[in-house]
Amino acid sequence: MKVLLIGSGGREHALAWKLAQSPLMTEFYAAPGNPGIADHATLVAVNVDDHDAILAFCKDKAIDFVVVGPEAPLVAGIADKLRAAGFAVFGPSAAAAQLEGSKGFTKDICARYDIPTGAYQRFNNPPKAKAYIRQQGAPIVVKADGLAAGKGVTVAMTVDEALAAVDGCFEGAFGAAGAEVVIEAYLDGEEASFFCLCDGMHVLPLATAQDHKRVGEGDTGPNTGGMGAYSPAPVMTKEMVERTMKEIIEPTMRGMAESGYPFSGVFFAGLMITAKGPELIEYNVRFGDPECQVLMMRLKNDLLPLLHATATGTLDQVSAEWTDDPALTVVMASEGYPGSYDKDTPIRHIPEAGEGAKVFHAGTALKDGALVATGGRVLNVTATGKTVGEAHTRAYALLDKVDWDNGFCRRDIGWRAIDREKA
Ligand code: AMP
Ligand code: GLY
Repeated sequence: MKVLLIGSGGREHALAWKLAQSPLMTEFYAAPGNPGIADHATLVAVNVDDHDAILAFCKDKAIDFVVVGPEAPLVAGIADKLRAAGFAVFGPSAAAAQLEGSKGFTKDICARYDIPTGAYQRFNNPPKAKAYIRQQGAPIVVKADGLAAGKGVTVAMTVDEALAAVDGCFEGAFGAAGAEVVIEAYLDGEEASFFCLCDGMHVLPLATAQDHKRVGEGDTGPNTGGMGAYSPAPVMTKEMVERTMKEIIEPTMRGMAESGYPFSGVFFAGLMITAKGPELIEYNVRFGDPECQVLMMRLKNDLLPLLHATATGTLDQVSAEWTDDPALTVVMASEGYPGSYDKDTPIRHIPEAGEGAKVFHAGTALKDGALVATGGRVLNVTATGKTVGEAHTRAYALLDKVDWDNGFCRRDIGWRAIDREKA
């Protein structure tokens, strides 16, 4: 099979690493890719926002299957364009990608299909939003409706903070994404991420993970795209997984199909496990980054047939097997992230990883033949172990051999699970 992978982050490096192991793969391209992905695929210098250029490339190379990594091209309709031209695509239509692209859309699906989630209201003007906040009181959560790179959410502990967040949204802090806000009840509990493949009619549960969104140790400081993750998430017991499938995932699949937007791709459900059970915080329509990295380390199967079955409506004919060993990944980021940071700082050495370990590239590039850091999140140092604690020890031992002056990381990735293991 001739495959094109779209994307350039650590998630796509993990997908590329796993896809390249498939005996079904005959030719493998990545657009635009990164220096880590270049170990597995031929990099294609095409702008992924230019859907015509992607389509022309697929025709030119007679690509059989396109795997889309990030959400932005999906929300912009790349899957529709390629499907209309007859290509098999892993990733939802633009209409179905609204599950991630519009928080209001998702909340309305939840309301219509009785999916457990925080009570909410949608607003397109500040006075009504503020009146609702005053009426509900704090804590309360204010969300920009559209895609805001994970930064459009304010979990407000006071009414004043919530009112300020409403002003921020409508004054354009998140651009067009903030033209509408969703105000939502605060959910108290432990967060977990749950991943499933869905072909529109069938759903295949994959695995669970927990990530660390805050930049600082002890889960403090500003939110980021994710500073580390591990899989499985201990809070997702068998019972919680079953309830999530029955109460959240299956009704979403049915609801999307009934609403005329059958969903094909990966459901990434952000959950809060509250005293009542699993409640939906949000959906993403792509693999998590860095959650994907730990999932790929644990997946025993060939990934290519799973993604292809998702794209072709044959998910009922495949299954997925996972190692029981946990996997953990630590993000190395540029000093200053999630604020501003220097670009093109030299990465002098990345150590060889042995069995059950891997350093994935996220924001790296080659400049004059030398490896440099170009992004906020730059490397994902990943390892498995018999316990989360062992995976943590192995990942940090590897990380300490990376020679990059401008990099930093959290040293406590996995702390919740490790505390549980010690108890
Ligand atoms: P989101 O972008 O929707 O994932 O929100 C970012 C983060 O805000 C989540 O991972 C949660 O930690 C927090 N959050 C979002 N919604 C709620 C909620 N209703 N109650 C409590 N925390 C929330
Ligand atoms: N790590 C969170 C995300 O990918 O959205």
